[in-house]
Amino acid sequence: MHTVIVYESMYGNTREIAEAIAEGVHQADPGAAVDCIPVAEARADVTRTADLLVVGGPTHMHGMSSGLSRRMAATVEGHKEGAEEKAAEARETVEGPGLRAWFHDLPETESGTHAAAFDTRVDMARAGGAAKGIAHRLSHHRYDVVVEPEGFIVEENDGPLRTGELDRARAWGASLV
Ligand SMILES: Cc1cc2nc3c(=O)[nH]c(=O)nc-3n(C[C@H](O)[C@H](O)[C@H](O)COP(=O)(O)O)c2cc1C
Repeated sequence: MHTVIVYESMYGNTREIAEAIAEGVHQADPGAAVDCIPVAEARADVTRTADLLVVGGPTHMHGMSSGLSRRMAATVEGHKEGAEEKAAEARETVEGPGLRAWFHDLPETESGTHAAAFDTRVDMARAGGAAKGIAHRLSHHRYDVVVEPEGFIVEENDGPLRTGELDRARAWGASLV
């Protein structure tokens, strides 16, 4: 069994969730190969040998990030006092491709490979979520999306993750295998 997790993250929270999902997959199936890859490093062929593809990103403007929202994320953080490290991470991320561009180049799967989508979001009314759009794109590429899109909560725009969310991500990862 080969699981590939591809994530986009401006401030590091979605990366932490992706890594926890990878841990969960590994705990549930210690013999399985698990690759957890930032979208900028995920060439289109990384999914070729996957039996399970998990894709996640931050919620921006109620849905998946866009070029504009990613630039906004980097700018907002750049103006925040004490956020130098996160601002640097966001600036670095903004230079690479986001999930939208990655999906554009992703080949269709021929085999109906299993897939799942997740996002990070804040806990507010009408927060929306990126995971629905991600799941939609996975289906469009003929992946078999096996669970409902899942959202994990950050306390503020730049984090931290709500207490317990990493455990929930591990359990969610384990449930996928
Ligand atoms: C430009 C921008 C727009 C955002 N819009 C939303 C939103 O509509 N709904 C929401 O729940 N969170 C929104 N957020 C908060 C993000 O969900 C949060 O920054 C993200 O989960 C953090 O993940 P990351 O650390 O992996 O980048 C927004 C953040 C930014 C920077």
